[in-house]
Amino acid sequence: MTELFVVSSQAEGGELAADRIAATMTSVGARFVLGVATGSTPQSIWRALAARCRSLDLSTVPAFALDEYWDIPEGHPESYQAVVEREITSPLGLNPQLVRVPGDDGKDSAAPSRYEQAIRAAGGITLQVLGIGRNGHIAFNEPGTSLASRCRIARLTQQTRRDNSRFFAAAEDVPSYCITQGIGTILEAERLVLAAYGLDKAHALAAALEGPVTSTVPASALQLHPGVTVIADAAAASQLKHAGNYLAAGAL
Ligand code: GLP
Repeated sequence: MTELFVVSSQAEGGELAADRIAATMTSVGARFVLGVATGSTPQSIWRALAARCRSLDLSTVPAFALDEYWDIPEGHPESYQAVVEREITSPLGLNPQLVRVPGDDGKDSAAPSRYEQAIRAAGGITLQVLGIGRNGHIAFNEPGTSLASRCRIARLTQQTRRDNSRFFAAAEDVPSYCITQGIGTILEAERLVLAAYGLDKAHALAAALEGPVTSTVPASALQLHPGVTVIADAAAASQLKHAGNYLAAGAL
């Protein structure tokens, strides 16, 4: 069953997720593989983990990012490769050689299957951090994506392009295509930790956790996964009808 933590701040959510990551690392040992996510939401998680760098050695942990823009100039500061390096790899002390972003080994048509293969070769993702788009997307799996989808090149919706335009100088600079882990790929991670903050995410979160499982709300696929932790603030959790029914640590 999904665990839900309603937190009073993103900093608290970050600490909670960092606790989960550290505990999972301890329990699985050297086979731990971290799935990382970009966007504003996971930033407090990366900050909390970075602050634990002295006691938590992540230098041997392989990491895989969820997604990347496809039609973005190489080296662009808003490419997810650059964001991952700046916000995750470097502050967490990950080994850059062990950190992968889809398409980082060449943007050709075989890039998605090579990425899937690299995840498999690493033994699969142990814990995947996720955000959620206002339209219910996870990674760049937009509404209408098959719940069995694999890593692939896909088109971004206008809403996602608009939402992400805050990172670019002009709206028309936002790329139109992406390379993303599929929903089927994400569901293969052993544990999923999804964070959502703010009223903007309330509708998507309620549809994901309590609506029908449908490709119209890609994050609703999480209902099919046995190990999901959701961390939300009160605003993001405000449209949940059954918040009291989720399992939360300390509740038993
Ligand atoms: C982007 C990313 C997603 C992210 C989502 C929400 O489009 N591809 O992985 O979860 O947007 O981002 P934010 O956390 O900034 O709201």
